[in-house]
This record gives sequence, structure tokens and C-alpha cells, in this order.
Amino acid sequence: MSYCGLDFGTSNTTLGVATGNAARLVALEDDETTLPSAIFFDFAAARPAFGRAAIDAYAKGTDGRLMRSLKSVLGTDLIDQDTLLDRHRIGFRDVLKRLLGEIKARAEQAAGQPLDAVVHGRPVHFVDGDEAADRRAEDALAEIARAIGFRHVSFQFEPIAAALDYEQQVGAEEVALIADIGGGTSDFSIVRLGPDRRRAADRAGDILANDGIRIGGTDFDRLLSLKSAMPHLGYQSAMKKRGLLAPNGYFTDLSTWAKINFLYTPKVMAEIRQVQRESARPDLIARLAHVLEDHLGHRLAMLVERAKIGLSESERLDQALGWIEPGLVAGFARGEFETATAELSGGIAGMIRRCLADAGLSPAKIDAVFLTGGSTLLPNVRRAILGELPDSRIVEGDKFGSVGLGLTLESMLRYR
Ligand SMILES: Nc1ncnc2c1ncn2[C@@H]1O[C@H](COP(=O)(O)OP(=O)(O)OP(=O)(O)O)[C@@H](O)[C@H]1O
Ligand SMILES: [Mg+2]
Repeated sequence: MSYCGLDFGTSNTTLGVATGNAARLVALEDDETTLPSAIFFDFAAARPAFGRAAIDAYAKGTDGRLMRSLKSVLGTDLIDQDTLLDRHRIGFRDVLKRLLGEIKARAEQAAGQPLDAVVHGRPVHFVDGDEAADRRAEDALAEIARAIGFRHVSFQFEPIAAALDYEQQVGAEEVALIADIGGGTSDFSIVRLGPDRRRAADRAGDILANDGIRIGGTDFDRLLSLKSAMPHLGYQSAMKKRGLLAPNGYFTDLSTWAKINFLYTPKVMAEIRQVQRESARPDLIARLAHVLEDHLGHRLAMLVERAKIGLSESERLDQALGWIEPGLVAGFARGEFETATAELSGGIAGMIRRCLADAGLSPAKIDAVFLTGGSTLLPNVRRAILGELPDSRIVEGDKFGSVGLGLTLESMLRYR
């Protein structure tokens, strides 16, 4: 039997196979082992584009529909709904089958053999505080995995997978806190690791805590967008009628990756025209109308994401929005970003305290903190994590590869 580990992420996907006793990630797009979890339905082409090619096709202005952050529809009612393409509708489950089926096919090409068993990653919680929704989300992923041809499908929690990857480099017994902060969720586990524990079949006793919260990089994107980009499009601008502001919903949807496409309907456009007529700042609402009319929502979301990443290095930066209105520039500042997202970083710190309480350990008992997931590169997220564990050794994991490698190690234990 040939088997693999699959880390289907909100933002990026990886897939790994065994080579001898080691796990390795396969190239999914040219030489890259990560594939942005994006699909672009080109209305003029028979086949959709995937990953970077999907984002490029959209950025070129090709007529079609870009979808990203698809993992965040798992566990919500949207998974059983459909969305309009050019002339026909497609269900979200089918979109996920197209994306994951393509990833499987590319991995088989790269690995040179068909893959029939998979250890699928999953966040500890797809949805906060709703076990039934969590189960539905995992069931949906399992059904999709079988539909694309995996005969054996099992799951492992993403932070436990990252722990298995980290354990490969651990020389002596220790207790580690694994923090995996990705695009959609923040997941943690506290685990006992050691060179002699690696091969044990049942590791349940080594898992001292395992929990997570639906906070990820896309939430930081949304709040940065609302703080620094959306006001240029009329967010929180006054209506003619005293005391009224422009309705929030359009702006929060436009700042939320998975919701952008829902704004591209004649009904929403008609509503926006009405808002514009009643607005005290019709010049600003006109920009919103232009972004929706020309389907520029993802372009704006990508610009905000780039600004977020840029703020890790710079205190302030400007992004040109000349493609919305000549000369328009949005300014971004790290201080404002960190204030606007304090609740998110606070939620991450709170989840770490909860895991420590679950494990019955004081922070001093954590030997190492292992950081993985792209959002651990955010300075305020790092401060939130390290502030709870001031004395632990910091281990920088492979930010985009650890979970996929760990899932592959798990697939070797389960299916070999
Ligand atoms: N240098 C950086 N600074 C800050 N954030 C970054 C940086 N690089 C990437 N990110 C963010 O990391 C996130 C993606 O991380 P990652 O690929 O680990 O997520 P994922 O595994 O797809 O998501 P999840 O595991 O939550 O489903 C994105 O929100 C991206 O903006
Ligand atoms: Mg991840």
C-alpha cells in the first residue's frame, strides 16, 4: 500500500510521502512543496487553475472566479451550498474535490506511484465550541478524500503532527508546547517527546493537552483591512441622515476571504447604489461600487495581506490603490494593526493558558516551545506566545512544512 500525509491548510497545502525511514514533501507546483489553497475557474477554459497559477490568472484580470480560504467553509452550512460560476452553479464540496483531487494527482505524478491511503490533518476545532459541527467538518473531508480515490482515510490533529516532526530532532526527553498558528486556526498541544518514545504505537499518554481556537492569519487580514483599507471605501462613513453610518456588512464581507464572492451579485450592486444615493460621502461609496463591479475584492485582500506581512519588518508602509482611484494610497501602521488585533493575540495567549491548565503544568515546566504556521511570524503573535512561556527554549519550526511532514510520519506508523 502507498500512503501519504496531507496538510490541507486554509492558506497553503502540502503533501508528503515516505522515502525509506524519512518523510519528504513532494513538489506540488513546479519546484514548490507548498500549494496556495486556491482555485480559479476561468470562464473561457475547460479546466480550472490551481495554486499560484490560480492567483496569477485572477491577478491578470482573466474573466473567472477565484476561491481561497475554502477550508473555512468546513463546519459551516456553506459546505452544502453552491456558488455561481459563469452560467452554472457548483457546490463547495465539488470545489474541494476539484482542488484536493488535483493535489492528489500531482503528488502521484511527483511520487511516481498511486497513493491509496492518507493521514489527513485537521485543526483541533474547525468551529469553536460545537462538537457536532467539528464532526460534520471531518466527515465532509473524509467523504471528499474517498471521492477522489483514497481507499484508507484517517485523521491526525495538526499540532500533534507538528510535534512528531519536531520530535525527529529531539535528543533527550522533554515537555514541549507546540504552537501552530496558520491562516484559519491556532492549534496547540503539550506533549512529552523523546528519542525512545518515537516508535511507540500508542502515544495517547504523551499528549498532555490538545486544544485550539478559530483565530488565524485571515482574521488578522480582516481586522487590518477594516482598520486601514475599508475606510477609503466608505467603511464607517456618515450617511446623509444624522447619526447613521454606511452599513457594516459589505465591508466585513469584503475583508473576509471566503465571503468576497458573495458580494458579486446584481442584488448587492443595487443595494450599494442605494447606499451611495443616501450617503454623505458618495465619493467613497463609489470606490466600493467600483471594487465590486470589477471583482477586485481578492486583489484588495491580497494587498492587505502583503501589508500585514510587511508590517512585521516596517513600522509603517504605504500601498498604492491607484487601480481603485488614480492617486489613492492606503497607509498601514504596525501600532494601529496591533491595537486592532489585540483581541486576537489575547485569544491566542488565553488558549495557551488553558492548555497549561489542562496539562496541570506551570509555564516553567515547558522545556521548549515549537513555533510553526505562517502566523507565528507576526511580532504580536510571537509576543503573545512567548509572554506565556518566558523561560522556555524557542524552537523555530519549518513554518509551512512541519505539519505535512508530521502527518507523513504518522502515515508511516499507521499504514506501513
Ligand atoms: N512573514 C509573515 N508574517 C506574518 N504572517 C505571515 C507571513 N508569512 C505568511 N503569513 C501568514 O501565514 C498564514 C498562512 O500560514 P499557513 O500556511 O501556516 O496556514 P495554513 O496551514 O494554510 O492554515 P491553517 O493551518 O490555519 O488551516 C497566512 O495568513 C499568511 O498571511
Ligand atoms: Mg496549517
